[in-house]
Amino acid sequence: MDSISSSGTSSCCYISLIFFIIFKGAAGVTFTVINKCDHTVWPGTLGNSQLDSTGFELPPGGSRSFQAPPNWSGRFWGRTGCTSDPTTGQLTCLTGDCRSNQLECNGNPANPPTTLAEFTIGSGTTQDFYDVSLVDGYNLPMIIEPSGGSGPCLLTGCATDLNRKCPDELRVGSRDACKSACNAFGNPEYCCSGAYASPATCKPSRYSEIFKSACPKSYSYAFDDPTSTFTCTGADYMITFCPSSTSLKSASSTSPDTTTTGGSETDSGGFASWLPDFLTGESSKTLSGCVFYTTLLTTLISHILLTVFYS
Ligand SMILES: *[C@@H]1O[C@H](CO)[C@@H](O)[C@H](O)[C@H]1NC(C)=O
Repeated sequence: MDSISSSGTSSCCYISLIFFIIFKGAAGVTFTVINKCDHTVWPGTLGNSQLDSTGFELPPGGSRSFQAPPNWSGRFWGRTGCTSDPTTGQLTCLTGDCRSNQLECNGNPANPPTTLAEFTIGSGTTQDFYDVSLVDGYNLPMIIEPSGGSGPCLLTGCATDLNRKCPDELRVGSRDACKSACNAFGNPEYCCSGAYASPATCKPSRYSEIFKSACPKSYSYAFDDPTSTFTCTGADYMITFCPSSTSLKSASSTSPDTTTTGGSETDSGGFASWLPDFLTGESSKTLSGCVFYTTLLTTLISHILLTVFYS
């Protein structure tokens, strides 16, 4: 009698644990897009299946979360300087425009130059691949931060304001964006096309090297070294425009920061750097935080119950 109820309870625990793992796997991935710029950004999304929105407005400090299914692949970018025509109501943007003439991009890609956050999501148990690409040029600082996954799961992106470092011949407007050499000149050697369509023949140019030195973790040209691609399994992702200098530090350094300047988040250790963010973070992070805590809580409860029943 006793053993029956005990095994009944523990198999119930197992079932909920298994159900939870399956549920988590089937739930796919949560992307949270955060705008830390001091100006509005109008993000665009494009993927093998459409997210809840393909284009939206994000005021300074704003954020929005999206669920994507397993095996989703696609990209996020930011549009800047968008204005609606007072008579037609058509939306046009200074950079990153997707030529839909409206807030939603409806499957249209960004008009370069645009910084791109690119993802190839796995099944939940297979690896996700992600990178920040400057192959189509640059318009905004942008980083990707995984949370709650397993594997290397490193922060990547370009936190630098490359518009200020942009060579005149690549510059768009009054430093609104910075073209890639391929965008600007179209030569096969810059575009890795024609005779240059392989990693062996397409080499870094003096232009791609400017991008690479400003943003070492980002793709600076089509066949940039594979270390610009990052992997993580079963994670959620935060995509931040204009990350703060604190994020910038944790992005570029893995050793503890010794040059404390009185900031409250100078500890740039991997775990410690995102944990306070998670606990104190803006409302923006509540969804991925909720997912994270649900995971943590369910795992903990199952673990405790299993331990209790088997001791
Ligand atoms: C995701 O891709 C893997 C490998 O191609 C496949 O086995 C799996 O069924 C896919 N999952 C979904 C939910 O489409």
